[in-house]
Parts: sequence; structure tokens; C-alpha cells
Amino acid sequence: MEGKNGLKELVTAFRARYGREPRVFRAPGRVNLIGEHTDYNGGFVFPAAIDRATYVAMAPREDGRLRAASMALPETLDVPVGHTAVSGNWTDFVLGVAVLLGRTEGADLLYATDVPIGGGLSSSAALSVSTAFALGTGDRTREEIALLCQRAENEFTGMQCGIMDPLSSCLGEEGKALLIDCRDLSYKTVAVPDGVRLVIANTMVKHELGGTEYNDRRAACEMAAAKLDVPYLRDVEYAGLEGAELRCARHVITENARVLAFAEALVGGEMEAAGREMYASHESLRVDFAVSCEELDTMVGLARGIPGVYGARMTGGGFGGCTINLVAAERAGAVVAALTAGYEKATGIRPHIFETRAAAGACEVVA
Ligand code: GLA
Repeated sequence: MEGKNGLKELVTAFRARYGREPRVFRAPGRVNLIGEHTDYNGGFVFPAAIDRATYVAMAPREDGRLRAASMALPETLDVPVGHTAVSGNWTDFVLGVAVLLGRTEGADLLYATDVPIGGGLSSSAALSVSTAFALGTGDRTREEIALLCQRAENEFTGMQCGIMDPLSSCLGEEGKALLIDCRDLSYKTVAVPDGVRLVIANTMVKHELGGTEYNDRRAACEMAAAKLDVPYLRDVEYAGLEGAELRCARHVITENARVLAFAEALVGGEMEAAGREMYASHESLRVDFAVSCEELDTMVGLARGIPGVYGARMTGGGFGGCTINLVAAERAGAVVAALTAGYEKATGIRPHIFETRAAAGACEVVA
């Protein structure tokens, strides 16, 4: 879906399907500039909400049924509100959020999205956060809404994700990235400098084991922290660890330092220095944390050779999905063209590469 037309289409489809007038809510996806696999280790992340979002049209029902459908996916939901049995598809996010919100009134929901589904830009947080706003968040703060959405994903889909994605979708601000301390959820906003563009490069691959591997990495980090008797890997030196635990801890600790160095460079307008932190982050994720893949490495390798790219790295959980490129504004078009051609030549896969803007967090929209 794109812009106002997409919204009109969503409302028209809602009327046709459910025969009533909806309210419409949006929640954005996110791109993480740096700070990967640090959130569940109590560390720093530096994401921005993006100008792509999930939109949900909603009208309450009086018969206590919760019904959901999507313009993008075939599965639907039609259950009594309070129902807790999951079905293994996207509707589990809706169910989870409704249950944790303690919703007692029924609702009809219809979703549309322009966040690439499963592409590492947090289509799942966009789904759960938009659901929470549509079903009513009461007097919860945005941080509390994000925690509820994280819990819904953990408990209803089995993905042991951290807080970064729903928090970005809730807290996003136009033109700004968010430097978040995941230990206490304090954050500050940092303007993306005027002369810089964010270019996202979707490799169009999603490796099957992504979910399992993610949970494995998280478990390894928690075991390493337990062994060292600290609450989070953020709090340790990695002396005393070895093998895979050493590599996990080394990634987390060096990545935290890179986030802070990156933020300082960005604020100081030192784009080359910021870019170096991004390349170093990618290397650490590739070698120490082992969550990259050939296609992501190819995309980052290509970026290194293109004039106007300050830095590039995989973004999100890994095992496919997207890279984020920090690019000089006047070179953005040329960079998109060069990355597209280079990646297609190297892999035979046509990538989806586009500029994005840091955008506002979830809200109701006037359709
Ligand atoms: C996924 C998770 C996040 C975070 C990233 C890695 O996007 O949902 O919580 O852990 O991976 O940084």
C-alpha cells in the first residue's frame, strides 16, 4: 500500500468486508543504525522508526468476537475475545496483544502494510503495536505498550525478541533516531544530519533457521551472563569466557562501545568515523556473533566500494533481510542504482533498495 490511496483502499475494503465505518491506526517498522543483539543483553541500540508502516482499520463489535483479516496475507482470525489458542500464523500477534491488553469487547480488524513482511524491518512489531493502538491502550505509557507487545511476541509466537522493535515503533520521531539504553529504557533522540540519507537494501533472502538461531544466541548470552554472575552481558569484561560464549560476549561488549562512538560521531558530523563503526559492527556480527549470511556480506562488500557510502551493515536479527547504508545525500540515487546492479550481478537476485526517512511513532490516522 502506498500513501493516501492505500489508506482509502483499506477503508473501502473494511466497509465491504464488515459493513461499518472504521477508525485507522498506524505503527511504523524500524531500521537499526547500529547496536545489534544488544537489546536483550541490557545494552545500547540506535534505531529509527521508518516511513513504512502497518495500518489497521478497526470497529468494535457487540457480540464479543475478535475478527481479523489482512490485505497481504490469506489467514484470518474469528474467535471469542479472550481466546488464547495460537494458530502458528500472523494472527497470533493480534490474539496475544488482545489477551495481554485484557480486552473484553469484540472487534473487527483489517490490516494493510508497506513494511516488507519478514524482511528484517520489524513487520512484526508494526503488526503488534498497530494492534495495541487499535484495540485501545488505556492509560499505558508508550514504554508500557512496547513491553506488552514484546511479551505478546515472546509468549504467543515463541520468538524471544528483545524490546528494540516495539519500542522504536512506539517512540519514533520525525527526522530522528533513538539512542536507547535497554537496561532501563531511557533514551534520547538524535537528529539524522541533513546531508545524510538512510538507504535500506533488502537482500530478498530469509534463511529458514532465523527464529531458532535467534533464540539460541539469546540463550547463549544469558548462559554466559549467568556463568559470570551478572544480570546482563553488558556488565562484564569477557575475560574468563572461552569458545562460543567468549565470542558472544565480545560482540555484545564491543557493540555497545560502537553504538556510543557512532552516536558521538553522528552528532559531531563526522560521517566517515560513524561509517567505520558500522563496518566494524557488521564484522563483529559476521565473525563473533555469527548471524550474518553470504547475501548480507555481499551487500555490505558492494557498499564499501561505492563513492558516497559512509558505512553499511546488516540490520535486525540477521540470517537474511536488509542492510542499512549511511549515504551522502547527493549520492543517494547513484548508490541505490550501483547497489542494485552489483547485487543482482553477484547473486542473480533482484534486491529491493530504497531510501527511507526517520518517521514518527504509532498513532491514529485520519483516513
Ligand atoms: C530482532 C529482535 C530485536 C533485536 C534484533 C537484533 O529484530 O526482534 O529485539 O534483538 O533482532 O538486534
